[in-house]
Amino acid sequence: MKKFIGAQHHFHENQNALDWANRFVPTPERLQLFDTIIQQIGKTSLPAPHIVELGIGPGYLAERLLKKIPNITYEGIDFSTPMLNLAATRLAAHMSRIKFTQADLVNEDWGAKVSRPVGAIISTWALHDLGSQENTRKVYQTCHRLMASGGILLNGDFVKPEGTRHDFEAGRFPVSRHLELLQEVGFRGAHCLIFLEQELENPTSAQNYACMQAIV
Ligand SMILES: C[S@@+](CC[C@H](N)C(=O)[O-])C[C@H]1O[C@@H](n2cnc3c(N)ncnc32)[C@H](O)[C@@H]1O
Repeated sequence: MKKFIGAQHHFHENQNALDWANRFVPTPERLQLFDTIIQQIGKTSLPAPHIVELGIGPGYLAERLLKKIPNITYEGIDFSTPMLNLAATRLAAHMSRIKFTQADLVNEDWGAKVSRPVGAIISTWALHDLGSQENTRKVYQTCHRLMASGGILLNGDFVKPEGTRHDFEAGRFPVSRHLELLQEVGFRGAHCLIFLEQELENPTSAQNYACMQAIV
């Protein structure tokens, strides 16, 4: 039977945010996604030592990255107060290097709130929640505008795998379309670094995610 792959979240409610954070304590596969991003950041000569994370959630990626890459500052964006509170608690040891920015990636000019200059913009499991290819395209466009030449975008997000017979929510679309959108808004060298937990036949909403990279 055909399935619909997607998820409804209530990130603005304390208990729901906490439940999400407890349910998605990073697995080995997700740590592989984080480390793919961290390795790319580590080996890139960034135009500025400031990294912005879109949809920081409970701060799992930030915690790992801040431990491994010492000489950068970090800015976590999220629209959810409960998620920002969870991240602030998790990242208490790194407070001198972190700024939290509350902003809605769809309904406001979030780029205007971001500290400049920005060397890299990263994200995991967040942009599919924006609900459409058009909203993702607009976020990619703002990312391109925020970074100088050499800036890097790394988006590790849920996608629709090529060849599946199932329906996916609109925010989950094929890697090939992500790469087209990145190119359309001006990024160069857009490509997929890794595809994790690929499952075509019987997917869950926590499988099929890829890390896409592009350079300004
Ligand atoms: C599925 S969670 C992922 C959290 C984290 N990136 C991770 O991988 O553990 C998605 C996060 O994106 C945030 N988010 C979703 N839609 C957003 C929007 N329109 N603007 C800002 N943040 C948003 C949510 O509040 C939540 O913290």
